[in-house]
Amino acid sequence: MSRLDRAAAFERAAAVLRENDRGAYTIPTKGLYPFQWNWDSCLTALGLRHLDEARAWQEVETLLDHQWPDGMVPHIVFHVDDDGYFPGPGVWRTGRPVPTSGITQPPVLAYVMKRLHDEAGDRELARRKAQALLAKAEAWHRWFYACRDPKDTGLVAIIHPWESGRDNSIDWDEAMMRVPTDGVEPYERRDTKHVDSAQRPHKADYDRFLWLLQRFRGLGWDNARLHEASPFKVVDPGFNAILIRSDSDLAELAETLGEPEIAARARERVAKARAAFETLWSDTFGQYLCLDRVSNQLIDSPSIGGLLPVFAGLGGEARQRSIAGRIEAWRKRTRFGVASHDPADRRFESKRYWRGPAWIIVNMLIADGLRRCNLADAAAKVEAGSLALIEESGFAEYYDPISGEGLGGGHFTWTAAMVAELVKRAA
Ligand code: GLC
Repeated sequence: MSRLDRAAAFERAAAVLRENDRGAYTIPTKGLYPFQWNWDSCLTALGLRHLDEARAWQEVETLLDHQWPDGMVPHIVFHVDDDGYFPGPGVWRTGRPVPTSGITQPPVLAYVMKRLHDEAGDRELARRKAQALLAKAEAWHRWFYACRDPKDTGLVAIIHPWESGRDNSIDWDEAMMRVPTDGVEPYERRDTKHVDSAQRPHKADYDRFLWLLQRFRGLGWDNARLHEASPFKVVDPGFNAILIRSDSDLAELAETLGEPEIAARARERVAKARAAFETLWSDTFGQYLCLDRVSNQLIDSPSIGGLLPVFAGLGGEARQRSIAGRIEAWRKRTRFGVASHDPADRRFESKRYWRGPAWIIVNMLIADGLRRCNLADAAAKVEAGSLALIEESGFAEYYDPISGEGLGGGHFTWTAAMVAELVKRAA
Protein backbone atom coordinates (compact mmCIF):
# COMPACT_ATOMS: atom_id res chain seq x y z
CA MET A 1 0.00 0.00 0.00
CA SER A 2 1.34 3.45 -0.88
CA ARG A 3 1.54 6.20 1.73
CA LEU A 4 -1.45 7.90 0.13
CA ASP A 5 -3.52 4.73 0.15
CA ARG A 6 -2.60 4.17 3.76
CA ALA A 7 -3.68 7.67 4.71
CA ALA A 8 -6.99 7.15 2.88
CA ALA A 9 -7.53 3.75 4.54
CA PHE A 10 -6.91 5.32 7.93
CA GLU A 11 -9.43 8.07 7.27
CA ARG A 12 -12.04 5.52 6.23
CA ALA A 13 -11.35 3.43 9.32
CA ALA A 14 -11.57 6.51 11.55
CA ALA A 15 -14.92 7.40 9.97
CA VAL A 16 -16.33 3.96 10.87
CA LEU A 17 -15.03 4.28 14.43
CA ARG A 18 -16.68 7.68 14.79
CA GLU A 19 -19.91 6.50 13.23
CA ASN A 20 -20.25 3.69 15.78
CA ASP A 21 -19.10 5.74 18.77
CA ARG A 22 -21.86 6.16 21.35
CA GLY A 23 -19.92 8.51 23.62
CA ALA A 24 -18.48 6.20 26.26
CA TYR A 25 -18.53 2.97 24.25
CA THR A 26 -18.78 1.81 20.65
CA ILE A 27 -21.28 -0.55 19.09
CA PRO A 28 -19.96 -3.21 16.68
CA THR A 29 -22.29 -2.07 13.89
CA LYS A 30 -25.66 -0.38 13.53
CA GLY A 31 -28.73 -2.61 13.36
CA LEU A 32 -27.25 -6.06 13.87
CA TYR A 33 -25.34 -5.31 17.11
CA PRO A 34 -26.66 -2.14 18.83
CA PHE A 35 -24.97 -2.58 22.28
CA GLN A 36 -21.48 -2.89 23.74
CA TRP A 37 -19.73 -6.22 23.17
CA ASN A 38 -16.83 -7.31 25.37
CA TRP A 39 -13.98 -8.36 23.10
CA ASP A 40 -15.12 -6.03 20.34
CA SER A 41 -14.69 -3.08 22.68
CA CYS A 42 -11.27 -4.16 23.91
CA LEU A 43 -9.89 -4.70 20.41
CA THR A 44 -11.57 -1.52 19.24
CA ALA A 45 -9.63 0.40 21.89
CA LEU A 46 -6.46 -0.53 19.99
CA GLY A 47 -7.80 1.37 17.00
CA LEU A 48 -9.36 4.24 18.95
CA ARG A 49 -6.03 5.15 20.54
CA HIS A 50 -4.83 6.38 17.14
CA LEU A 51 -7.62 8.96 17.28
CA ASP A 52 -7.72 9.73 20.99
CA GLU A 53 -5.92 7.85 23.76
CA ALA A 54 -8.24 8.97 26.54
CA ARG A 55 -11.22 7.73 24.54
CA ALA A 56 -9.51 4.35 24.06
CA TRP A 57 -9.10 3.94 27.82
CA GLN A 58 -12.70 5.00 28.33
CA GLU A 59 -13.84 2.16 26.08
CA VAL A 60 -12.41 -0.48 28.43
CA GLU A 61 -13.35 1.50 31.54
CA THR A 62 -16.99 1.51 30.47
CA LEU A 63 -16.89 -2.24 29.92
CA LEU A 64 -15.36 -2.81 33.34
CA ASP A 65 -17.97 -0.59 34.99
CA HIS A 66 -20.34 -3.47 34.30
CA GLN A 67 -18.17 -6.26 35.68
CA TRP A 68 -20.15 -8.61 37.92
CA PRO A 69 -19.44 -8.76 41.65
CA ASP A 70 -18.01 -12.28 41.16
CA GLY A 71 -15.43 -10.95 38.68
CA MET A 72 -17.04 -11.96 35.39
CA VAL A 73 -16.99 -9.37 32.61
CA PRO A 74 -20.18 -9.98 30.60
CA HIS A 75 -20.22 -10.44 26.86
CA ILE A 76 -22.85 -7.75 26.17
CA VAL A 77 -23.77 -4.59 28.06
CA PHE A 78 -27.26 -3.38 27.11
CA HIS A 79 -26.75 0.34 27.68
CA VAL A 80 -29.92 1.29 25.81
CA ASP A 81 -33.18 -0.33 24.75
CA ASP A 82 -33.19 -1.67 21.21
CA ASP A 83 -35.50 -4.40 20.06
CA GLY A 84 -33.54 -4.89 16.84
CA TYR A 85 -31.45 -7.53 18.64
CA PHE A 86 -32.42 -10.92 20.02
CA PRO A 87 -31.92 -12.17 22.74
CA GLY A 88 -32.20 -8.86 24.53
CA PRO A 89 -32.16 -8.04 28.27
CA GLY A 90 -35.73 -9.29 28.78
CA VAL A 91 -34.57 -12.78 27.83
CA TRP A 92 -31.30 -12.80 29.78
CA ARG A 93 -32.84 -11.29 32.95
CA THR A 94 -29.53 -11.20 34.81
CA GLY A 95 -30.76 -8.65 37.34
CA ARG A 96 -27.84 -6.26 36.86
CA PRO A 97 -28.44 -2.51 37.43
CA VAL A 98 -27.59 -1.85 33.78
CA PRO A 99 -28.72 -5.05 32.04
CA THR A 100 -26.02 -7.36 30.72
CA SER A 101 -25.90 -10.83 29.23
CA GLY A 102 -24.99 -13.64 31.64
CA ILE A 103 -21.99 -15.19 29.92
CA THR A 104 -18.52 -13.93 29.03
CA GLN A 105 -16.23 -13.62 25.99
CA PRO A 106 -12.52 -14.08 25.14
CA PRO A 107 -10.45 -12.10 27.66
CA VAL A 108 -8.33 -9.94 25.35
CA LEU A 109 -8.67 -7.11 27.90
CA ALA A 110 -5.29 -7.39 29.67
CA TYR A 111 -3.45 -7.88 26.38
CA VAL A 112 -5.05 -4.65 25.18
CA MET A 113 -4.37 -2.80 28.45
CA LYS A 114 -0.69 -3.68 28.26
CA ARG A 115 -0.44 -2.37 24.72
CA LEU A 116 -2.39 0.80 25.53
CA HIS A 117 0.01 1.34 28.41
CA ASP A 118 3.33 0.37 26.85
CA GLU A 119 2.79 2.14 23.55
CA ALA A 120 1.12 5.26 24.97
CA GLY A 121 1.97 8.78 23.92
CA ASP A 122 0.52 10.15 27.16
CA ARG A 123 2.57 8.10 29.67
CA GLU A 124 1.04 9.75 32.72
CA LEU A 125 -2.54 9.07 31.62
CA ALA A 126 -1.65 5.49 30.72
CA ARG A 127 -0.09 4.80 34.07
CA ARG A 128 -3.07 6.19 35.94
CA LYS A 129 -5.62 4.32 33.89
CA ALA A 130 -3.75 1.00 33.90
CA GLN A 131 -3.25 1.23 37.65
CA ALA A 132 -6.95 1.85 38.20
CA LEU A 133 -8.04 -1.10 36.04
CA LEU A 134 -5.42 -3.68 36.99
CA ALA A 135 -7.25 -5.26 39.93
CA LYS A 136 -10.46 -5.57 37.90
CA ALA A 137 -8.63 -7.34 35.11
CA GLU A 138 -7.08 -9.68 37.63
CA ALA A 139 -10.44 -10.39 39.25
CA TRP A 140 -11.76 -11.51 35.88
CA HIS A 141 -8.83 -13.89 35.35
CA ARG A 142 -9.29 -15.35 38.82
CA TRP A 143 -12.98 -15.77 38.15
CA PHE A 144 -12.15 -17.85 35.07
CA TYR A 145 -10.11 -20.40 36.94
CA ALA A 146 -12.46 -20.49 39.92
CA CYS A 147 -15.70 -20.87 37.96
CA ARG A 148 -14.72 -22.42 34.65
CA ASP A 149 -12.09 -24.83 35.94
CA PRO A 150 -13.62 -26.03 39.20
CA LYS A 151 -11.62 -29.28 39.12
CA ASP A 152 -8.41 -27.30 38.86
CA THR A 153 -7.08 -28.78 35.61
CA GLY A 154 -5.31 -25.57 34.58
CA LEU A 155 -7.59 -24.99 31.57
CA VAL A 156 -10.96 -23.25 31.47
CA ALA A 157 -14.11 -24.38 29.65
CA ILE A 158 -16.66 -22.29 27.85
CA ILE A 159 -20.24 -23.24 28.69
CA HIS A 160 -21.95 -21.57 25.75
CA PRO A 161 -20.69 -21.29 22.13
CA TRP A 162 -21.21 -17.51 22.29
CA GLU A 163 -18.53 -17.29 24.95
CA SER A 164 -15.91 -18.42 22.45
CA GLY A 165 -16.46 -15.36 20.28
CA ARG A 166 -16.46 -17.88 17.41
CA ASP A 167 -20.16 -18.40 17.93
CA ASN A 168 -21.11 -20.89 15.25
CA SER A 169 -17.85 -22.77 14.72
CA ILE A 170 -17.87 -26.41 13.62
CA ASP A 171 -15.92 -26.99 16.86
CA TRP A 172 -19.17 -26.92 18.84
CA ASP A 173 -21.33 -29.18 16.66
CA GLU A 174 -20.62 -32.46 18.41
CA ALA A 175 -20.94 -31.13 21.95
CA MET A 176 -24.07 -29.18 21.01
CA MET A 177 -25.80 -32.42 20.00
CA ARG A 178 -25.99 -33.12 23.70
CA VAL A 179 -27.99 -29.96 24.34
CA PRO A 180 -31.74 -30.59 24.25
CA THR A 181 -34.23 -28.24 22.63
CA ASP A 182 -37.37 -29.07 24.60
CA GLY A 183 -38.90 -26.24 26.55
CA VAL A 184 -37.30 -23.49 24.49
CA GLU A 185 -39.68 -20.54 24.72
CA PRO A 186 -41.05 -19.27 21.40
CA TYR A 187 -38.85 -16.59 19.91
CA GLU A 188 -38.32 -14.48 16.86
CA ARG A 189 -34.80 -14.08 15.53
CA ARG A 190 -33.66 -10.60 14.51
CA ASP A 191 -30.24 -11.42 13.02
CA THR A 192 -31.74 -12.79 9.81
CA LYS A 193 -33.65 -9.52 9.38
CA HIS A 194 -30.31 -7.73 9.00
CA VAL A 195 -28.21 -10.39 7.26
CA ASP A 196 -28.88 -13.09 4.63
CA SER A 197 -29.75 -16.30 6.50
CA ALA A 198 -27.20 -18.26 4.42
CA GLN A 199 -24.54 -16.34 6.35
CA ARG A 200 -26.04 -16.96 9.80
CA PRO A 201 -26.59 -20.01 12.05
CA HIS A 202 -29.38 -22.54 11.41
CA LYS A 203 -32.52 -22.61 13.57
CA ALA A 204 -31.51 -25.91 15.22
CA ASP A 205 -28.33 -24.20 16.48
CA TYR A 206 -30.30 -21.21 17.70
CA ASP A 207 -32.69 -23.42 19.67
CA ARG A 208 -29.77 -24.94 21.50
CA PHE A 209 -28.13 -21.57 22.14
CA LEU A 210 -31.40 -20.55 23.81
CA TRP A 211 -31.85 -23.75 25.74
CA LEU A 212 -28.50 -23.15 27.42
CA LEU A 213 -29.41 -19.55 28.18
CA GLN A 214 -32.69 -20.63 29.78
CA ARG A 215 -30.91 -23.33 31.79
CA PHE A 216 -28.44 -20.83 33.23
CA ARG A 217 -31.17 -18.28 33.87
CA GLY A 218 -33.09 -20.98 35.76
CA LEU A 219 -30.10 -21.27 38.08
CA GLY A 220 -30.14 -17.55 38.77
CA TRP A 221 -26.89 -17.00 36.84
CA ASP A 222 -24.99 -18.39 39.80
CA ASN A 223 -21.53 -19.00 38.35
CA ALA A 224 -20.66 -21.37 41.15
CA ARG A 225 -23.21 -23.77 39.65
CA LEU A 226 -23.27 -23.15 35.91
CA HIS A 227 -20.18 -25.12 34.86
CA GLU A 228 -21.43 -28.30 36.49
CA ALA A 229 -24.97 -27.77 35.28
CA SER A 230 -24.10 -27.20 31.63
CA PRO A 231 -24.31 -30.12 29.18
CA PHE A 232 -21.98 -28.05 26.98
CA LYS A 233 -18.44 -27.69 28.35
CA VAL A 234 -15.64 -27.26 25.86
CA VAL A 235 -11.98 -26.43 26.40
CA ASP A 236 -11.14 -24.23 23.43
CA PRO A 237 -7.40 -23.87 22.70
CA GLY A 238 -7.97 -20.42 21.18
CA PHE A 239 -9.87 -19.14 24.19
CA ASN A 240 -7.34 -20.57 26.66
CA ALA A 241 -4.45 -19.17 24.63
CA ILE A 242 -6.01 -15.72 24.82
CA LEU A 243 -6.42 -16.06 28.57
CA ILE A 244 -2.82 -17.25 28.98
CA ARG A 245 -1.45 -14.42 26.85
CA SER A 246 -3.54 -11.86 28.73
CA ASP A 247 -2.47 -13.29 32.05
CA SER A 248 1.24 -13.07 31.14
CA ASP A 249 0.67 -9.53 29.91
CA LEU A 250 -1.12 -8.78 33.18
CA ALA A 251 1.90 -10.11 35.08
CA GLU A 252 4.29 -7.86 33.18
CA LEU A 253 2.05 -4.85 33.48
CA ALA A 254 1.60 -5.44 37.21
CA GLU A 255 5.37 -5.67 37.62
CA THR A 256 5.87 -2.37 35.78
CA LEU A 257 3.18 -0.71 37.90
CA GLY A 258 4.73 -1.90 41.15
CA GLU A 259 2.16 -4.57 42.02
CA PRO A 260 4.36 -7.65 42.59
CA GLU A 261 1.63 -9.70 44.25
CA ILE A 262 -0.72 -9.42 41.32
CA ALA A 263 2.22 -10.29 39.07
CA ALA A 264 3.14 -13.36 41.10
CA ARG A 265 -0.41 -14.72 41.12
CA ALA A 266 -0.73 -14.22 37.37
CA ARG A 267 2.57 -16.00 36.73
CA GLU A 268 1.44 -18.92 38.82
CA ARG A 269 -1.77 -19.27 36.81
CA VAL A 270 0.15 -19.02 33.55
CA ALA A 271 2.65 -21.72 34.55
CA LYS A 272 -0.13 -24.08 35.47
CA ALA A 273 -2.11 -23.43 32.30
CA ARG A 274 0.97 -23.85 30.12
CA ALA A 275 1.72 -27.19 31.71
CA ALA A 276 -1.81 -28.44 31.00
CA PHE A 277 -2.08 -26.95 27.53
CA GLU A 278 -0.17 -29.46 25.42
CA THR A 279 -2.81 -32.15 26.03
CA LEU A 280 -4.81 -30.29 23.34
CA TRP A 281 -2.21 -30.97 20.62
CA SER A 282 -3.12 -33.34 17.78
CA ASP A 283 -0.34 -34.98 15.76
CA THR A 284 -2.93 -36.08 13.22
CA PHE A 285 -3.86 -32.49 12.39
CA GLY A 286 -0.57 -30.82 13.24
CA GLN A 287 -2.48 -28.25 15.32
CA TYR A 288 -4.44 -27.94 18.56
CA LEU A 289 -8.03 -29.14 18.94
CA CYS A 290 -10.88 -28.49 21.37
CA LEU A 291 -11.46 -30.88 24.22
CA ASP A 292 -15.00 -31.92 25.05
CA ARG A 293 -14.96 -31.81 28.83
CA VAL A 294 -18.06 -34.01 29.10
CA SER A 295 -16.76 -36.95 27.03
CA ASN A 296 -13.11 -36.10 27.71
CA GLN A 297 -12.28 -36.53 24.01
CA LEU A 298 -10.52 -34.17 21.61
CA ILE A 299 -12.96 -32.90 18.98
CA ASP A 300 -11.98 -33.65 15.36
CA SER A 301 -12.51 -30.16 14.06
CA PRO A 302 -9.49 -28.27 12.71
CA SER A 303 -10.46 -24.63 13.19
CA ILE A 304 -8.63 -21.38 13.67
CA GLY A 305 -9.07 -21.84 17.43
CA GLY A 306 -6.36 -24.49 17.18
CA LEU A 307 -3.96 -22.10 15.43
CA LEU A 308 -4.42 -19.27 17.94
CA PRO A 309 -2.08 -20.76 20.57
CA VAL A 310 0.81 -18.98 18.80
CA PHE A 311 -0.75 -15.84 20.30
CA ALA A 312 0.54 -17.02 23.67
CA GLY A 313 3.77 -18.47 22.25
CA LEU A 314 2.62 -21.93 23.28
CA GLY A 315 3.93 -25.21 21.97
CA GLY A 316 7.67 -24.75 21.42
CA GLU A 317 9.38 -24.29 18.09
CA ALA A 318 8.33 -27.48 16.30
CA ARG A 319 4.63 -27.02 17.05
CA GLN A 320 4.74 -23.33 16.18
CA ARG A 321 6.30 -24.17 12.82
CA SER A 322 3.66 -26.81 12.26
CA ILE A 323 0.98 -24.16 12.86
CA ALA A 324 2.69 -21.78 10.43
CA GLY A 325 2.64 -24.66 7.93
CA ARG A 326 -1.09 -25.16 8.51
CA ILE A 327 -1.73 -21.48 7.87
CA GLU A 328 0.25 -21.67 4.64
CA ALA A 329 -1.67 -24.78 3.53
CA TRP A 330 -5.04 -23.14 4.29
CA ARG A 331 -4.01 -20.00 2.46
CA LYS A 332 -3.18 -22.00 -0.64
CA ARG A 333 -6.79 -23.16 -0.82
CA THR A 334 -8.28 -19.66 -0.52
CA ARG A 335 -7.46 -16.27 -2.01
CA PHE A 336 -7.92 -13.98 0.96
CA GLY A 337 -6.83 -14.04 4.58
CA VAL A 338 -6.76 -16.99 6.96
CA ALA A 339 -10.11 -18.81 6.99
CA SER A 340 -11.81 -19.62 10.29
CA HIS A 341 -11.85 -23.32 9.49
CA ASP A 342 -9.62 -25.68 7.50
CA PRO A 343 -10.79 -25.25 3.89
CA ALA A 344 -9.88 -28.88 3.19
CA ASP A 345 -12.47 -30.10 5.75
CA ARG A 346 -15.70 -31.23 4.07
CA ARG A 347 -17.71 -29.23 6.64
CA PHE A 348 -16.06 -25.95 5.59
CA GLU A 349 -18.56 -23.29 4.38
CA SER A 350 -17.00 -20.16 2.93
CA LYS A 351 -19.92 -17.85 3.74
CA ARG A 352 -21.48 -19.14 6.95
CA TYR A 353 -20.62 -17.41 10.16
CA TRP A 354 -17.43 -18.87 11.71
CA ARG A 355 -17.59 -22.04 9.62
CA GLY A 356 -15.11 -20.82 7.03
CA PRO A 357 -15.14 -17.02 6.57
CA ALA A 358 -12.05 -14.95 7.39
CA TRP A 359 -12.25 -12.51 10.31
CA ILE A 360 -9.74 -9.69 10.37
CA ILE A 361 -9.50 -9.54 14.16
CA VAL A 362 -8.57 -13.20 14.48
CA ASN A 363 -6.10 -12.80 11.62
CA MET A 364 -4.50 -9.95 13.58
CA LEU A 365 -4.21 -12.03 16.75
CA ILE A 366 -2.61 -14.81 14.70
CA ALA A 367 -0.16 -12.37 13.09
CA ASP A 368 0.76 -10.97 16.51
CA GLY A 369 1.36 -14.54 17.68
CA LEU A 370 3.50 -15.50 14.71
CA ARG A 371 5.73 -12.50 15.38
CA ARG A 372 5.99 -13.51 18.98
CA CYS A 373 7.15 -16.96 17.83
CA ASN A 374 9.84 -15.42 15.57
CA LEU A 375 7.85 -16.20 12.45
CA ALA A 376 7.81 -12.64 11.14
CA ASP A 377 7.57 -13.59 7.45
CA ALA A 378 4.47 -15.65 8.08
CA ALA A 379 3.03 -12.79 10.15
CA ALA A 380 3.64 -10.25 7.39
CA LYS A 381 1.77 -12.46 4.92
CA VAL A 382 -1.25 -12.71 7.22
CA GLU A 383 -1.29 -8.94 7.69
CA ALA A 384 -0.98 -8.31 3.96
CA GLY A 385 -3.87 -10.75 3.45
CA SER A 386 -6.02 -8.72 5.84
CA LEU A 387 -5.28 -5.47 4.04
CA ALA A 388 -6.07 -7.10 0.70
CA LEU A 389 -9.51 -8.04 2.04
CA ILE A 390 -10.25 -4.50 3.13
CA GLU A 391 -9.13 -3.13 -0.21
CA GLU A 392 -11.35 -5.65 -1.95
CA SER A 393 -14.49 -5.33 0.17
CA GLY A 394 -14.28 -2.59 2.80
CA PHE A 395 -14.98 -2.90 6.52
CA ALA A 396 -17.17 -5.97 6.71
CA GLU A 397 -17.89 -8.15 9.72
CA TYR A 398 -16.30 -11.16 7.97
CA TYR A 399 -15.30 -12.20 4.46
CA ASP A 400 -15.57 -15.11 2.09
CA PRO A 401 -11.91 -16.21 1.93
CA ILE A 402 -12.36 -17.60 -1.58
CA SER A 403 -14.15 -14.74 -3.32
CA GLY A 404 -13.15 -11.94 -0.95
CA GLU A 405 -16.81 -10.85 -0.67
CA GLY A 406 -17.70 -8.89 2.49
CA LEU A 407 -20.32 -10.68 4.63
CA GLY A 408 -22.47 -10.13 7.72
CA GLY A 409 -22.73 -6.57 9.04
CA GLY A 410 -21.07 -3.62 7.28
CA HIS A 411 -19.19 -0.55 8.64
CA PHE A 412 -17.82 -2.87 11.27
CA THR A 413 -16.03 -1.31 14.22
CA TRP A 414 -13.36 -3.84 15.16
CA THR A 415 -12.50 -4.42 11.52
CA ALA A 416 -11.95 -0.67 11.20
CA ALA A 417 -9.93 -0.65 14.42
CA MET A 418 -7.61 -3.32 13.07
CA VAL A 419 -7.14 -1.39 9.84
CA ALA A 420 -6.20 1.70 11.84
CA GLU A 421 -3.63 -0.49 13.62
CA LEU A 422 -2.23 -1.99 10.45
CA VAL A 423 -1.79 1.25 8.59
CA LYS A 424 -0.30 3.05 11.60
CA ARG A 425 2.18 0.24 12.07
CA ALA A 426 3.18 0.31 8.40
CA ALA A 427 3.63 4.12 8.52
C1 GLC B 1 -20.79 -12.10 16.85
C2 GLC B 1 -19.39 -12.68 16.94
C3 GLC B 1 -18.75 -12.25 18.23
C4 GLC B 1 -18.79 -10.74 18.33
C5 GLC B 1 -20.20 -10.18 18.11
C6 GLC B 1 -20.23 -8.68 17.98
O1 GLC B 1 -21.63 -12.58 17.84
O2 GLC B 1 -19.41 -14.07 16.82
O3 GLC B 1 -17.43 -12.72 18.30
O4 GLC B 1 -18.31 -10.33 19.55
O5 GLC B 1 -20.75 -10.71 16.94
O6 GLC B 1 -19.40 -8.25 16.93
